[in-house]
Amino acid sequence: MTATAMRSQCCGEIGIADVGSKVQLCGWVAHRRDHGEHLAFVDLRDHTGIIQCVLDGSVEVRSEWVVRIEGTVRRRPEGTDNPDLATGQVEVSQCEVEVLAEAEAPPFPVDDRVSADEMLRLRHRYVDLRRPRMQANIRLRARVMGALRDSMASQGFCEVETPLLWTPTPEGAREFTVPSRLHKGEFYVLPQSPQLAKQLLMVGGVDRYFQLARCLRDEDLRADRQFEFTQLDLEASFVDQADIQRAVTEAVLAATRAALGDDIDVPGVETFTWREAMERFGTDKPDTRFGIELVDLTAVFESTEVKAFSAPCVKAIVVPGGAVMGRSQLDSLVQQAKSLGAKGLAWFKVISVAPLVVESPLDKFISITERESLVDVSQASPGDLIAVVASDWRTACSVLGQLRLATGRPGIHEGGLRYCWVTEFPMFDGLDEQGRPQAAHHPFTMPHPDDVHLMASDPLSVRSQAYDLVLNGWELGSGSIRVHREDIQRQIFDALGIGFAEAEERFGFLLGAFRYGAPPHGGFAVGVDRLVALLAGEENIREVIAFPKTQSGTDPMTNAPRELAPGVLRDLGLQVIPRNS
Ligand code: AMO
Repeated sequence: MTATAMRSQCCGEIGIADVGSKVQLCGWVAHRRDHGEHLAFVDLRDHTGIIQCVLDGSVEVRSEWVVRIEGTVRRRPEGTDNPDLATGQVEVSQCEVEVLAEAEAPPFPVDDRVSADEMLRLRHRYVDLRRPRMQANIRLRARVMGALRDSMASQGFCEVETPLLWTPTPEGAREFTVPSRLHKGEFYVLPQSPQLAKQLLMVGGVDRYFQLARCLRDEDLRADRQFEFTQLDLEASFVDQADIQRAVTEAVLAATRAALGDDIDVPGVETFTWREAMERFGTDKPDTRFGIELVDLTAVFESTEVKAFSAPCVKAIVVPGGAVMGRSQLDSLVQQAKSLGAKGLAWFKVISVAPLVVESPLDKFISITERESLVDVSQASPGDLIAVVASDWRTACSVLGQLRLATGRPGIHEGGLRYCWVTEFPMFDGLDEQGRPQAAHHPFTMPHPDDVHLMASDPLSVRSQAYDLVLNGWELGSGSIRVHREDIQRQIFDALGIGFAEAEERFGFLLGAFRYGAPPHGGFAVGVDRLVALLAGEENIREVIAFPKTQSGTDPMTNAPRELAPGVLRDLGLQVIPRNS
């Protein structure tokens, strides 16, 4: 119901059915057009849309003034319909206008078709939010949040709030610190996620928990990262990975339908192991809206004479129609590959297949068999370009994965929605300077049951029970089955070089709780801002957050962050080191 004491309905709701009715409307003046002394057209805007009102020219109202208009709906005169407006067949006539608030001229037009400077938009976010695009995004976000909450509740998950004043946890990102007035010199931190709290809830017998949780991370901001963001966070006991994946898939698809309508076509959610995702797409967050998969040419160049190809791994992508690339384009492709960590990139233009003709600076060095296999294995057609990277496996995959995106990725509005799961992430990311494995996730991630025995002898080949959900090449969320057994936890700490004392000092409260009976459990967290941005067709999550920060982490509207008054600092027991010292 949109009727209130002040209005009979909303602007965008008026249509042919209302012709002849008296209406009371409230909103902002979007436009005013004067037609002589006694006639003015005013477009009145609220969150539902715009309606044209016909006034006497002597009435004073200006852009963005807040008004209440009472009048009668009538059919627009023949030939004056506005097909761009949902209410474009009607107008409100014989209007009486009550000015509720005057307004200064807005800092930028409240119009989606006019682009405004980012800083200006954020400084006056309350004006920016009036724009239809922002209104649509905010409301789409609310639908998504509602659907996620409903879906979790209907799947038997219980909503629990966890503390914002928390303690440092071993999740990886830098935390925001909060000084304590009552305990001077001591600090809380704001949670990067409710990770340990939700595991404690499992020890507490909650069984199935969820929360639309605010998380805070002090990290460099990017299009898909803000300091503050929201997760659909969940955890469940007595489950396996498939149970968690099922629950998350159901919630995310419910949110997708709530955002875009029940008839939205979402293809089935594919699952790739991490290894397969790297092999085929060169990344652990594959954008499966388009083909161009990586091909493995290691066997083709196994006994090659060409030095550039004598590497542990030789992989390639075929750029369809890429043979038209000129020298400078090819040079920049090579430069790009180098900047991504490859020693170089070789290219082959396929001119024809029968007879086989390729063009490449390396063509005269490769053997006839290599040339034939190269084209055969990569299934390139005349007119295509084969881009080859020889390196260690990870580098070859990730360089080509990024070139794949650079050459073929559809725009944000193209290719529909392609969700996929990536499973069996490695347990460790590599070795540090002392040769110790680096945890790829937090250290409570359960290893794959088939690989536990390799923990000490070959840690880098140990797979974990960690899994990600990916949408159109964005990491949407991640989770894992957790370690609840002390013997496995000890093996992981040993592999990471974390001694008993250090473990007790850093996460003693969790380990202590586990000694009181921890059920097997696992969970997940979906980045809600990313999900909403993708569903809204936005490239930056800022566009789906009511009051976001700029790229450099400031808020031009409130001027945060700011210095504190000396008295406040004293109360908190803080002394600020001058900026230039
Ligand atoms: P993770 O750190 O992978 O996992 O975060 C889960 C999801 O949260 C979103 N996300 C962000 N969104 C916006 N801005 C950020 N700075 C940001 N950082 C993360 C992403 C990401 O996939 N506790 C674990 C989950 C678990 O194991 O249950 C966690 O937080 O979409």
